[in-house]
Amino acid sequence: MRKSRKEYTDANRLAWDEVASRHAAHNNPALFEAVKDPAFVSLEGDILHTLQRVGVAGKHIIQLGCNNGRETLSLRNLGAARCVGIDASAEFLEHGREMIRLAGAQDQVEFVEADVYDLPAEFNGAFDMVLVTIGVISWMPELKPFFEVIRGLLKPGGKLVMEEMHPVLFMYEEDADSGVSTVQYSYFSGEVWEETSGLDYYSHETYQSAPNYSFMHRLDEILMAGIDSHLNLEHFVELDYDISNFCSDLELNPVRPPLGFVMVMNAQ
Ligand SMILES: C[S@@+](CC[C@H](N)C(=O)[O-])C[C@H]1O[C@@H](n2cnc3c(N)ncnc32)[C@H](O)[C@@H]1O
Repeated sequence: MRKSRKEYTDANRLAWDEVASRHAAHNNPALFEAVKDPAFVSLEGDILHTLQRVGVAGKHIIQLGCNNGRETLSLRNLGAARCVGIDASAEFLEHGREMIRLAGAQDQVEFVEADVYDLPAEFNGAFDMVLVTIGVISWMPELKPFFEVIRGLLKPGGKLVMEEMHPVLFMYEEDADSGVSTVQYSYFSGEVWEETSGLDYYSHETYQSAPNYSFMHRLDEILMAGIDSHLNLEHFVELDYDISNFCSDLELNPVRPPLGFVMVMNAQ
């Protein structure tokens, strides 16, 4: 039986908090040195080009599901005036706050621990841009309320910029021994995945984790949830390269599926 949205997000918070120290051990020594450079930007490829084309300088931007906040900090280094990172995981945000301190960016960057479905009212209509990057949509139990939140955060004329894993990718499973990914699941399953083998997608180590739940949303569902929330589609591109560390072998396969997408929607 499906759980409530809050039950899913509460369970997922535990699992993300649990993996934070593993990600930190893998990433933070190098990251904490790198962020001292005021030119530090961890965004690259199509998402960076799209942000530069849309324009970041002077903007007020909120990132939903910011994790350790390195991309939120990158927005400040690209010239944004105010950057807010939202995440449910207090552990990851602690790392983000340390990063911001090392970067001397406390005046422009703030992190708020919150469920994206339940944001402080003061954020309503306060932002020129909402940023969502790799691996957030699949943690959202319900799409329409998620896009309604995004629409509510934007000023008139504001934009959603999204870089995400392509839903077709979730049809694939990577064989642990051979590293070869093959189609295993229907695109139309609408599956809720319960996992207990951890979220360490950097070291690819498995461990007995708190149960966490992710969701297989189709591309038409993503697009229509935005459109039905009064966001206009302005730009959409499918990516043929790996952005997620998930089934990465497909990037080199000549018969590869789309691996990601970058999308801009506006609140005209
Ligand atoms: C794959 S990670 C983040 C991806 C980010 N692009 C990055 O590479 O750092 C997904 C993040 O979404 C957060 N998250 C999941 N569900 C959430 C919710 N309901 N509210 C706020 N954050 C949530 C998790 O805590 C996690 O940090």
